[in-house]
Amino acid sequence: MQGAILDWYAAVRRDLPWRRTRDPYAILVSEVMLQQTQVARVVGRYEAWLERWPSAAALARATPAAVLREWVGLGYNRRALWLREACAIVARDGWPQTAAELVRLPGVGPYTAAAVASFAFGEQVAAVDTNVRRVAARLGRGEPAELLPAGRAGDFNQALMELGATVCRARAAACAECPAAGWCASRDMVAAPPRAGARKRERFEDSNRWVRGRIVSALAAGQGMPAGIAPERLEPALAGLVRDGLVRRTAAGLSLG
Ligand code: ADE
Repeated sequence: MQGAILDWYAAVRRDLPWRRTRDPYAILVSEVMLQQTQVARVVGRYEAWLERWPSAAALARATPAAVLREWVGLGYNRRALWLREACAIVARDGWPQTAAELVRLPGVGPYTAAAVASFAFGEQVAAVDTNVRRVAARLGRGEPAELLPAGRAGDFNQALMELGATVCRARAAACAECPAAGWCASRDMVAAPPRAGARKRERFEDSNRWVRGRIVSALAAGQGMPAGIAPERLEPALAGLVRDGLVRRTAAGLSLG
């Protein structure tokens, strides 16, 4: 199951700037911003922030007023001031290397500490936010910490967050698209959502990432290419997976990895 989830994540993962770094400062900035603001709105703000203050030491030297001005629109001001205070401690003492120590920094709770520890330092610790808690509860295969595959905590944490945000949603679980459906205790047990109030945003089902995820899930299940998706959507998605090294074309057909 863990392998299927990781393969799915590799296929659909959004290329977000904080997923390209292992710098604990950059990751901390992203996680604090993401606590209250949607991914799409955080990207630009995160990049501007890192350009202005590229390190914990740089942020520690900023004035509280400058930090608050840069934070406008990102939620509780208190979080920005805590972030600066945390960076002052880090600039003086260095980075705490474990989630158990990170949680002592101002404004850093258990989730954020585990996110930084697993993404930046590779610690085997589960980052449990609302999405991850729900996904693990539905799977019914133990606590999030028990699910972590050896050596892959960072990617697995990201994968469960992505799964909870896009497939195993609170009120509209899309079990047919889920790489873990074959192992899941709650498969097809979450009622479909009411149709009213459809979002303006592109639906995940209309995205190329969704098609990539369907292909990987189908190949992982030994089913060949997924049914019911138009070839003009399948072909570019498959070409992308091959280009990214996630799917191989062999004499025998398509295979993962
Ligand atoms: N929300 C909180 N942390 C996130 C992350 N690392 N990537 C995407 N969304 C998130």
